[in-house]
Formats: sequence, C-alpha cells, structure tokens
Amino acid sequence: MPRLLSFAPDCRPIVIRKTINYNFSVIIVGGSSSRALTAHLAAETGSAVASTEIRCFPDGEKYVRVLTPVVKQDVIIVSATYPDSNIIETLFLFDAVRRGRPNSVRLLIPYYGYQRQDKLFKEGESIGAEVVAGILDGKFDEIITIDLHAEGVSNYFRKTKIRNFIASPLIARYYNKAGIDIVISPDGGLRAVEYAKLAAHQLGCEYDYFLKERIDANNVKLYPKKVDVSKKSVLIVDDIIATGGSMLAAMKRLSELGASAIYAGCTHGQFTNDALPRLKEHAKEIISTDTIESEASKVSVAAIVSEHLFQLKR
Ligand code: R5P
Repeated sequence: MPRLLSFAPDCRPIVIRKTINYNFSVIIVGGSSSRALTAHLAAETGSAVASTEIRCFPDGEKYVRVLTPVVKQDVIIVSATYPDSNIIETLFLFDAVRRGRPNSVRLLIPYYGYQRQDKLFKEGESIGAEVVAGILDGKFDEIITIDLHAEGVSNYFRKTKIRNFIASPLIARYYNKAGIDIVISPDGGLRAVEYAKLAAHQLGCEYDYFLKERIDANNVKLYPKKVDVSKKSVLIVDDIIATGGSMLAAMKRLSELGASAIYAGCTHGQFTNDALPRLKEHAKEIISTDTIESEASKVSVAAIVSEHLFQLKR
C-alpha cells in the first residue's frame, strides 16, 4: 500500500521514508515562530541551522541579523506569517539572507496567516490571503506550505512556485497503535474530506464526515448526519483548530452516536483561549503538528519538507 497519496490539485504527492537524515545540505534560517520545526528539519536533513539574532527594540520594532555566511548556499527560511509580527520578521529574514548572496532562497511557511480570508465573504472586505501573497510573491525561488486552507490561496502567487503538502497522514501515523477504526472529518468540504481520506488510507481503515455550518467565529452547527461509529474508536482530523468549536461539536456528536474512544489531531493548532483544555475533556488524546508550536505539537512536518528537499537535490 503506498504510504501517502494526494489528489487536491495544488497538493503534491509525497512518500515519507522511514530513514531520517538524508545527508544533503541546505542552510536553515529559522524564524522565532518555528524554533522546534527548524531543529527537526535540521535533524532530518543533516543541515546546519544558521546563527541568527532576532529581537524587538524597546518600541516593538523587529531587529533581525543572520550571522552565518550564506554566499552561494541553498537557503531555506522557516517562518510563519502568523501572528502579524512574523510577516515583518519573514521579510527581514529574506532581506538579510538575500544580501549574503545565496544560490537560492526557499521559504517554508508552516502556518500561512490570513489563509481563511481567501475570498470576499461580504462586500467591502479585504482579502487577507491575497494581500499576504502579494507581499511575498516574486521574492523566493519556491514557497513551501502545509495544508493551505483553500486552493485559492496558492493562486494568488503569480511569480513564485508554491508547493503545498498535506500533513494528515503524519497525524494518522502518530495514532498507528491506538486501534483506530474510522477517521472522521468534522466538515464536508472537499479538502477536509481529503484529509480524512488520506489519514484513513495511512491507517488502513474507513472514513466519513459531518456536514458543518459556521454560524460565527465561535459557533458551528453540525447537521445531524449519521456516521456509523457505534462502539468504534474514532480519529477526528482537521486542518486548523482555532476556537475549538468545530472539533468540540464533532466530539459531542460522536459521543451521542456511541463512539467508544475519541482521538483528535489537527495540522495547525492555534488553540485560542482555553480551546485545548476544553477539548481534552472530550477526547482520549488531542495532538497537532509543529506548524504552530504548542504543548500539543507531537508530530513534526519536517519529514514532509525534508523529503521534498531531498527530491530537489537528486
Ligand atoms: C474550517 O473550515 C477549518 O477547516 C477548521 O475546521 C476551522 O478553522 C476550525 O475553527 P474552530 O476551531 O474555530 O472551529
């Protein structure tokens, strides 16, 4: 059985190897939002992490310095565009690296801030995802993203190639020994269902989904669609957990439907306010990847990114 497949148009198929440390080298420049991911990527690739100085002036403005020489080197900057101050930090890191005359500069955006504002929902709005793309487009040799919320986001990049990878099989792999019978998506959207499908494929089990309607930022409604989870051990996967509203609604519904155990995982664990402790009350375990670092980050997306870099170097 292939270990990881993908069929979303802008998502690349990738196979995660069992071995780590591919022994090829890039220089990794880690932003302050992605310390753990930077370290994991260095370990996976056997690459050096550049020495940097990143701090704030007393007035809150950022200061960035890259001390490791990067002349004629292939560089990958690891930096989120969330929260807002990291947009500036990403740009400053790029500028500092560029001045060092590298061979190439890639950007890994573990979490793309404003990706959920990917179109006009109401008259008079700004499209945040397009604004962020406009700032970054044309600067890098390639931009790597993880579980972009919507395909439309990568379409806003007109000059730079975007490679988007799916992390749900990594979440599934973490739960390999948990005896999962079925994977559930809390949402019937094409992408959300695909995440569940790929996770189920990794575990060799079935998958299903709920139909969700978002009422406002804090509230969602699940339509009472039946999924057959009675006495089954269930894994719920989602791309983002923000307020936890979607995940909580799914957990409650699965309990009503008689699930015997509930596990959960997401790629981007924002966990605003008390989302994580609230969700923990309803699940055996809840994890996220390290695209946003928190106590729930039990899985690293470094494996996906290093495999991609490895394929480029071959
Ligand atoms: C929505 O379409 C996303 O896939 C997530 O389900 C959503 O962003 C989660 O947000 P919250 O945790 O606030 O329900």
